[in-house]
Order: sequence, then C-alpha cells, then structure tokens
Amino acid sequence: MTAPAIAQGPAPLLAVENLKRHYVTRGFLGRGSYTVKAVDGISFAIARGETFGLVGESGSGKSTTGRLVLRLEEPSAGRVRFDGADITALPQSALKPVRRRMQIVFQDPYAALNPRMTVGDFVAEPLIVHGLAPARSEREDRVAALFRKVGLDPRFAGRYPHQFSGGQRQRVGIARAIALEPDLIVADEPITALDVSIQAQIVNLFQDLQEEHGLAYLFIAHDLSMVRYLCRRVAVMWRGRIVELGPTDAIFEDARHPYTRSLLSSVPIPDPDQERGRQPLPFDPDALRHAPDQPMVEVGAGHFVLA
Ligand SMILES: Nc1ncnc2c1ncn2[C@@H]1O[C@H](COP(=O)(O)OP(=O)(O)OP(=O)(O)O)[C@@H](O)[C@H]1O
Ligand SMILES: [Mg+2]
Repeated sequence: MTAPAIAQGPAPLLAVENLKRHYVTRGFLGRGSYTVKAVDGISFAIARGETFGLVGESGSGKSTTGRLVLRLEEPSAGRVRFDGADITALPQSALKPVRRRMQIVFQDPYAALNPRMTVGDFVAEPLIVHGLAPARSEREDRVAALFRKVGLDPRFAGRYPHQFSGGQRQRVGIARAIALEPDLIVADEPITALDVSIQAQIVNLFQDLQEEHGLAYLFIAHDLSMVRYLCRRVAVMWRGRIVELGPTDAIFEDARHPYTRSLLSSVPIPDPDQERGRQPLPFDPDALRHAPDQPMVEVGAGHFVLA
C-alpha cells in the first residue's frame, strides 16, 4: 500500500487508493487471452483547488486513471473517494449528483463534440440533463454567460463544430465542462492537439477558471514544461504504476526514479548551447522489477518513490 503518498490535507477532494484496472484481451486472431494491467495499484490525492499533474509515456495508464476517477470505467480493485464519500460501489443511478461535480475535458475537442449539434446546444446539454435552467430563455442566458467566460462570442452559439478552430472548439468543451460548476476537472491532454500559440491561451483560461471557482484539476499531459508551469504536484506513471510523486520542484530538480530521470532528460532545453550538451538518459525497463504491493518510500517532504 502507498498510504502515506495519498495524504493531502485532512480531507482531500479526491482520494484514490490502490486503484487497479486490468483488461483481459484476446490474443492475435483470437488465440488465447492475456491481461493488460493498465492501472495496477495506484494511490494519490488531490486537494481542493489544486492542479495535480499526471505524466508518463503512451500506454502508461493515464487516461484509464482519469476514466476510473470519473467512474466512466469500473475499477478491478481499489477505491475512489470524492469529497470524503466512497464512490467506488455506488450504482450508476446514485452517481448523478457526483457526476455534476466532476467533469472531463478531452484531448481532441473535435471528437468530443457532436458534429450535428450546435455548440450552444452542446454546452446547454448538461444543464438539461441535470434539470437546471429548465426555461429556455434562462438556459440561453446561462449558455451566453458560459461562452463569455471561456472567451467565445455568445453569438456563435448557433454554429456547428466544423465552423470553429481547434482552440475555439476546446473552449466550447471547457464551457460545457464548467456548466455545472464542478469541483474537479479531469483534463486529459487538453492542449496536446492545439497550436503552440493557442496552448498558452487555453492554459491561461484553465488558471483563470481555477482562481475564480476554486477548481481542482487532474491534468494529464505529455508536455513536461507545461506541467512544470501549471501543477503544484506531479505523479509519474509507468506501466500502470505511479513510480514517483511529489511537489513539482522536487520532481523536476531532484528526480529519484530512473524512469522519471529518463523522462526528464528527454525534454529539450530552450538554450541551444545547453541543448547541444543534453544527454538523454537511457533507461532499461527490464532492469526494474517492482513487486506488486511494493510500498513507496518518502525521500523528501511529500516526495515519494517506488524504490
Ligand atoms: N478497453 C481496453 N481494452 C484493453 N486494453 C486497454 C483498454 N483501454 C486501454 N487499454 C490498454 O491499457 C493501457 C493504458 O492505456 P491508457 O489509454 O490509459 O494509456 P495513456 O497513458 O493514456 O496513453 P496515451 O499517452 O497514449 O494517451 C494501454 O496498454 C492500452 O492499450
Ligand atoms: Mg491517454
């Protein structure tokens, strides 16, 4: 168990305890079956209003973690607590009030939008599902306010997704995510698909919304410089496990796990002289064996490593 790593104030907004998701997959051409341990016993907690980063290579289990937190997928083992309540075993019908408080923003805003629905209807949909703003005029006002909040002209509400740029579409996705005034947003690579110039605008929007509404984020990302800029704490995932977790500065300046070190060494340095001297650290995955219930070790204040 990794109990110490999850301590995050007396009552964290989200606490994930020893969470697992294993998929049993058929082999090639239906020959036999094998188990993919997409998430394999992870623990972490997120405080109210905190931005918590989740990084790691493709296939390490980041998106699965996000879906498990939202109960869009059922865990194979472990618990998810939200605002003190264990939501792991709640039937889907009892999840509705919880769903209101947790939302997701996806990497590809175009895939997330319904091409046949106006963006205004798309943003209004959660209000309707949750029976908020039942009167049409009230709903239109709410949607207009949401559009303004994410920096979109409310007159665009009658348009369709293909009439927008990638950055604008992501703003639409964010407007829908904040429509129910959630406490937590799982942002799964929300800026990866956007132009670099647009990325900064969307990140600023996330920050402004956090300041205004005290939102917490589970921010899933590939871009380590963005994570460093945005997140207070970071967890590094590798093959379904969290191999290192800690305050952002500790992770970036005093990484202990060989995978974290290798990951960080692959980040380009903006200074050309330094960049020329940068040596990507090789990493031999086969040299590492973490026992299934191996505990994390605290190596600094709030800094944990799977040793
Ligand atoms: N429905 C599923 N059935 C079988 N295997 C799955 C399923 N969903 C995910 N996986 C596997 O679980 C592992 C983790 O996938 P996941 O999408 O969580 O990774 P990720 O860290 O988000 O990767 P990326 O950075 O590419 O988005 C991968 O090996 C993936 O192939
Ligand atoms: Mg993913």
